[in-house]
Amino acid sequence: MSTSTKYPKLDLNIILEDVKQDINKVSWKSPSNIAFIKYWGKRDVQIPMNPSLSMTLKDCTTTTQMEWLPRTDFSGPHVEFYFENKVNEKFKEKVQKYLNGLLEELPFLRQFDLLFKSENSFPHSAGIASSASGMSAIALCLTSFEQKLFGTLDDSTEFFSKASHLARLGSGSACRSLFPKMSVWGENEFTEGENNKGVEFSSFHEKFEDLQDSILIVHSGEKEVSSRVGHSLMNEHPYAEKRFSEANKNLSLLLDYLKDGDIFKFGEIVEREAMDLHGLMMTSRPSFLLMKPNTLLIIERIKKYRLDKKIPLFFTLDAGPNVHVIYPKAYSPEVKTFIRENLLSLCEDGKWFEDSMGNGPEILG
Ligand code: DP6
Repeated sequence: MSTSTKYPKLDLNIILEDVKQDINKVSWKSPSNIAFIKYWGKRDVQIPMNPSLSMTLKDCTTTTQMEWLPRTDFSGPHVEFYFENKVNEKFKEKVQKYLNGLLEELPFLRQFDLLFKSENSFPHSAGIASSASGMSAIALCLTSFEQKLFGTLDDSTEFFSKASHLARLGSGSACRSLFPKMSVWGENEFTEGENNKGVEFSSFHEKFEDLQDSILIVHSGEKEVSSRVGHSLMNEHPYAEKRFSEANKNLSLLLDYLKDGDIFKFGEIVEREAMDLHGLMMTSRPSFLLMKPNTLLIIERIKKYRLDKKIPLFFTLDAGPNVHVIYPKAYSPEVKTFIRENLLSLCEDGKWFEDSMGNGPEILG
């Protein structure tokens, strides 16, 4: 559909009245997510090479306010970006590029300047990936803005679908942060997953309600390999085709275990996916080793504890050295004692964050 025919001409007086009344802004809090089936490899404009499935987090969030001011010409949007109350040139450039890429789809943005004020609930240096929460929060602000200007989105399903689609264009994994509890992204034979956006996933046994994610910070430095570079390594990867078919198989198995409530089998797949991801990085050309010695020690201790105590706790990893420990809430007391006594000495300055399954984004105003 041609976007210029989709949006009617704007009435500048209404927009200026909103500016006068100080209601020319919107604010969203959006969470990060942790993938159980990993997205690694993409084509075209952020189309995933395989489906992924994630859990939406509750406490690792980004809060972003977007304020709009009308321009007298159509050469916008000019972006300003404040991160944690300070001008941030790096984020500004990233968001400016993202918005420029959206102009065909959201042509009305040309008529505005946009001021973003953003902050994370977790320290920026913590080594927690913030692109999912950050880009989804921006996408939500843009979707609210469109809704306010044109009222084009009929209901909340349409609203979050649109936000997920826009988030995907900013960062693939961000499109899964828009939904409560769990989300699937990417076409597959087993779910309603689509390439264009994430969808909510709720066909899981009550045993998985309120899963916990304790994030152990092994190393908090900048990412060694950007996601962009990481994904592009899959283009020439010797095992790429095998990986994409394995991801589908792993998804199919995981869906069965999620439905049946087989938590140990679920954990087997979650850990397999983390190791596959890091295996792919180790065997890419060039090769990357993103785990640190303490990542491996933590993994070994988790496996041993599980075997000794018969407690369902599992690890997963993003494209970095930090370890996400996944377990049902019912086991929180003993798992937290285990973490404190056996794993924190392997973390950077004993740093860790407790998080859990969350209900998705929240509008703040
Ligand atoms: C390893 O979503 O950060 O966390 O689309 O380039 O922004 P871009 O990549 P990004 O990739 C995340 C990869 C992952 C696995 C996952 O979350 O599925």
